[in-house]
Amino acid sequence: MFEFDQLADRRTDHSRKWDRKFVEAIYGPLPEDYISMWIADLDFQVAPVIQDCLQEIVAKKTLGYVYTYDEFYQAIQYWQKDKLGLDIDREHILLDYSVAISLYHAVRAFCQADDCIMIQNPVYNPFRMAAQENDIRAIEVDLLLDQDGRYQMDFATIEAQMIQHQPKLFILCSPHNPGGRIWSKEEITRLAQLCLDHGVILVADEVHSDHIYQGEFFSTLALDEAYRQNLVWFNSANKGFNFAGLKTSYAIIPNDQLRAQYQKLM
Ligand SMILES: Cc1ncc(COP(=O)(O)O)c(C=O)c1O
Repeated sequence: MFEFDQLADRRTDHSRKWDRKFVEAIYGPLPEDYISMWIADLDFQVAPVIQDCLQEIVAKKTLGYVYTYDEFYQAIQYWQKDKLGLDIDREHILLDYSVAISLYHAVRAFCQADDCIMIQNPVYNPFRMAAQENDIRAIEVDLLLDQDGRYQMDFATIEAQMIQHQPKLFILCSPHNPGGRIWSKEEITRLAQLCLDHGVILVADEVHSDHIYQGEFFSTLALDEAYRQNLVWFNSANKGFNFAGLKTSYAIIPNDQLRAQYQKLM
């Protein structure tokens, strides 16, 4: 049992979040008693079961190359079944090394020069950077704020912009960062339908889905098969289990052709 009551001393572990020099290089001088809140990285120790696992690896005293072994696939299949009731084919799962990097891979795998992608604004900045740093234009559709201060997707503008610009990808953040919006099944399905109608691949970053406190999460992986065949999906255990420094993540791509295209880059 893990009680989330063991704080770690993050000022001594080369943490991007807490290291004074690192943070000052981005944000300028900090007060003596600064509290760092700029990155989604928790200050708890990792759960004992994860510490034990890593200690077992270190006890073997080798850290050479390993292949992607059965337990990796089984852990993901177990997690998706247990959490969302989803049966994931082992062949659809790919090991990757960070969800942010996967976004760059997706842009490179599916876009040619002069293509563009579509994102919503505001959003986690690497969505934009994945396009810009690959010389691909990002068409940004603003999220709308409703009377309750909740973000809503602007479906009419999304569709109009899809028709006008014919983006290759729509990159969805689900749950959304920033704002924490959990998209409903209806919203996700409507977006997936627009993607299908206009020949746009739906790329879903669901990295924040492993720690939902309120509301019901609907994964794009639970969409009907026609939509899943147009889906490139990313997640990692980093956020849910707080080990972003290990740089591991995974992709699930049900469509054989899209998966093969994505895999060429890895
Ligand atoms: C929406 C989103 N995607 C991806 C990441 C980064 O994930 P990773 O550490 O696996 O690259 C973050 C980190 O804050 C994020 O908010």
